[in-house]
Amino acid sequence: MGEALNGLKRSIMCGEVRESHIGQKITVMGWVQRNRNLGGLDFIDLRDRTGILQVVFGDAISKEAFEKADKVRPEYCIAVTGEVVRRESPNPNMPTGMVELKGQEIKILSESETPPIYIKEGLDAAENIRLKYRYLDLRRPDMQNIFMIRHRTAKVIRDYLDQNGFLEMETPMLTKSTPEGARDYLVPSRNYPGMFYALPQSPQLFKQLLMVSGFDRYFQIVKCFRDEDLRANRQPEFTQVDLEMAFVEENDVMTLNEGLIKHVFKEVVGVDVALPIRRMTYAEAMNKYGSDKPDLRFGMEITDLSEVVKNVDFKVFSDALANGGSVRALCLKGGADMGRKDLDRLGEFVKTFKAKGLAWIQLKENEIKSPIAKFLKEEELSSIIEKMSAEKGDAILIVADKDSVVFQSLGQLRLELAKKFDLIKDKNEFNFCWITEFAMFEYDEEEGRYFAAHHPFTMPMDEDLEFLESDPGRVRAKAYDLVLNGEELGGGSIRIHDTKLQEKMFKVLGFTEESAWERFGFLLEAFKFGPPPHGGLAFGLDRMIMFLGGTDNIKDVIAFPKNQNAFCYLTEAPNIADDKQLAELGIEVIKKEDK
Ligand code: AMO
Ligand code: AMP
Repeated sequence: MGEALNGLKRSIMCGEVRESHIGQKITVMGWVQRNRNLGGLDFIDLRDRTGILQVVFGDAISKEAFEKADKVRPEYCIAVTGEVVRRESPNPNMPTGMVELKGQEIKILSESETPPIYIKEGLDAAENIRLKYRYLDLRRPDMQNIFMIRHRTAKVIRDYLDQNGFLEMETPMLTKSTPEGARDYLVPSRNYPGMFYALPQSPQLFKQLLMVSGFDRYFQIVKCFRDEDLRANRQPEFTQVDLEMAFVEENDVMTLNEGLIKHVFKEVVGVDVALPIRRMTYAEAMNKYGSDKPDLRFGMEITDLSEVVKNVDFKVFSDALANGGSVRALCLKGGADMGRKDLDRLGEFVKTFKAKGLAWIQLKENEIKSPIAKFLKEEELSSIIEKMSAEKGDAILIVADKDSVVFQSLGQLRLELAKKFDLIKDKNEFNFCWITEFAMFEYDEEEGRYFAAHHPFTMPMDEDLEFLESDPGRVRAKAYDLVLNGEELGGGSIRIHDTKLQEKMFKVLGFTEESAWERFGFLLEAFKFGPPPHGGLAFGLDRMIMFLGGTDNIKDVIAFPKNQNAFCYLTEAPNIADDKQLAELGIEVIKKEDK
């Protein structure tokens, strides 16, 4: 059993001890990083969340303490009292490296088995082990640093929004399905057997109701739940910085959030974000970068060759154009040196995004190499080269197809080439961009109907309102996303605040009047009572911390995350419920093999 504190108090944190403390008697508490016995002296590196302090015990200082210190092993939790002295051999690489603690008393507060994870900066354990022993993984200094950044970020966000007149308000976790486009997590109801609450995918509708209530400016740092396929930047439960404002238009929301971002990046990592953040329409982003979240840290824009190749006698091109598609290309500087294998690999790469192939033209020193040269007249080839502004040494990479396929495959190819050819020069750059004028709807060919690209409460642009029913495909929305280095950091919109228009919107989305009222009647009803014009935005806080903390894995910024299959290695959730619980809920479980 460990020793009790018995009134002993910590007087300072390990990482805070400096030369100014020399001569003082202090008490520190923490975990043993390592313990070395060098003859008559025993050196312990003691760690807490602020850093490491060297403690030295000696026969001559206190024989009893020396003998006890000799016994401690890594990750023992101990308390040491002693005197701060100047270190004989200073270590300038450590903030506490000029001093050490001459240990006079030591208490072993608890012992530790050999931990399955080596507690140190940097990774050396498999992910399932890290997640199973998460409390040890979180002892590592780089993880503790991320969570200190997370704390600080949430604090400066709260301060900023408070100063700008926002109220932090909570909204229910047990609620009704909110249509953010993912599957819901359902919670069965005991009072109403066979009925379910949904965990919120976002507080979207509640924050709109708070605007109807007159709260004027709301925010919340809030958990959201989405049962979707997980990726490096997605978790089933994640955190949003969610906000909503009354009496505003797009510009007001964007300007306020730019101020918030500037404040956060300055206060947390000392980075100056230049304002205003540039804006780009969705159409421009797609045309130039094949993506609604373009990475603008490098150029290599997509060029439309449709006009230049409209008379070319190559079936792949002419078919694409005849079907309303396009022929577009990237120009890769230095790409003329790529071998056949590399080019074939790029061809395979674009096929994963449904492209049928990748045509290429290499401008070598003394010749032009291309599998499609045989289809091109000399002047056609030179107009392609001219349109692409290609020079000797470059490669032109072409995809012909319907626009959605061309954009996605070239957009992804652009990112792939940036990695392969190291096109992002400044790895520390934070390149922000607003994407505006999003398409209101996306057409789902399998289901044969339109879906809301953002969500169904988004206001269409005034000039497109007339096409809402006649030509939904061309309606743009008062929606905006904030993109950082090719990732969507946040998004929002101005909302519809008119029952009639909201009903029309539901109709375009294929809801009957009854089904719209059944699902969202409470919102439509609320809009009968003087709703103010309003709009807002939500940031993915986890994604923001990924940037601020310098990690590309969302699990690193969530204390207790799930794995790719939404499983928790630590608690082993999800778990079966016992029969009594199920009976109360009126639930019978169909076993997989019985299905
Ligand atoms: P949206 O669905 O765009 O908007 O979500 C806002 C932001 O939340 C982050 N995000 C996620 N982060 C981690 N894991 C996930 N599974 C995940 N899903 C989304 C993203 C995203 O930009 N109610 C609207 C906001 C509004 O209109 O005000 C909404 O939820 O960074
Ligand atoms: P082929 O005549 O079959 O040798 O094709 C000539 C080139 O066109 C090959 O390099 C193919 O990869 C390429 N190709 C095929 N389909 C497409 C497409 N949809 N867009 C661009 N290139 C294509």
